[in-house]
Amino acid sequence: MTLTATTDAAAVAASVSPVVSVRDLAVAYDRTPVLTGVDLDLRPGETVALLGASGSGKSTLMRSLTGFAPITGGSAQVAGQEVAAMRPRELRALRAQVGQVFQQFNLIPRLSVLTNVLTGALHHAGPFNLVGGFTREQRTRALDLLDRVGIAHKATAPARSLSGGQQQRVAIARALMQRPRVILADEPVASLDPKLADSVLSLLRDIARHDGIPVLVSLHVLPLALAHSDRIVGLKHGEVVVSAPTAELDATALAVVYDDEEDAGEHHH
Ligand SMILES: Nc1ncnc2c1ncn2[C@@H]1O[C@H](COP(=O)(O)OP(=O)(O)OP(=O)(O)O)[C@@H](O)[C@H]1O
Ligand SMILES: [Mg+2]
Repeated sequence: MTLTATTDAAAVAASVSPVVSVRDLAVAYDRTPVLTGVDLDLRPGETVALLGASGSGKSTLMRSLTGFAPITGGSAQVAGQEVAAMRPRELRALRAQVGQVFQQFNLIPRLSVLTNVLTGALHHAGPFNLVGGFTREQRTRALDLLDRVGIAHKATAPARSLSGGQQQRVAIARALMQRPRVILADEPVASLDPKLADSVLSLLRDIARHDGIPVLVSLHVLPLALAHSDRIVGLKHGEVVVSAPTAELDATALAVVYDDEEDAGEHHH
């Protein structure tokens, strides 16, 4: 590899070792294969978009990285550790280091925005327990993170009073509260209008770039993937059919991900 003076996130990312490294991964439910021969690297600084029709295995691939999918072959390493080999205690430690963002935000509606962010710290504290309260340091950090995601002024509002875009920002701040090694975002903008989708994906990519935390984000909308990722991985029937820098791809090159008579009518956005 030739190193040149560049600030291009993809080039920087390519020069450091991956936080997530998946090789020839197989996942099967009962005896039905769901993922086959999957390779995936997530390096510090990069945002990787995961594309695929409904049922192609996007959520399963993300779940396999936190030990929530039955791995039947190959290797999935997170922060240098083999997920399939982890004991329950190691799995809990792993899950504390993986920030997750979901389509439905998964906030606790009646609790304040600030408290929702603080719950991100509980991954490291063991059983869910709000009684003990949080330290001043944790509160300061949570407020800083709310500032980072642009909604510090909503800190005392109940989470349910926020718009969808604002709630997803809270969820991102909560994930950052974990000091994650990697962020997995499973269709984080599927419930948001296009403008909010753009702003949430820009925020995730900014976090990847500036905090060095790799982001894996599954998306259904091609233009969003093309606009907000450094690399794109396309799954079809549980296999990787596209894996390339986003700059080398366009809608035509990505058609293979959706081009399938069985899937006709699904997700041709
Ligand atoms: N717990 C499970 N038990 C059995 N089969 C499962 C389970 N979870 C997922 N599957 C199957 O694995 C395949 C992939 O599902 P997955 O949820 O990963 O797809 P996806 O790409 O995330 O789809 P979507 O875009 O609809 O979210 C599907 O055929 C699904 O039925
Ligand atoms: Mg899914």
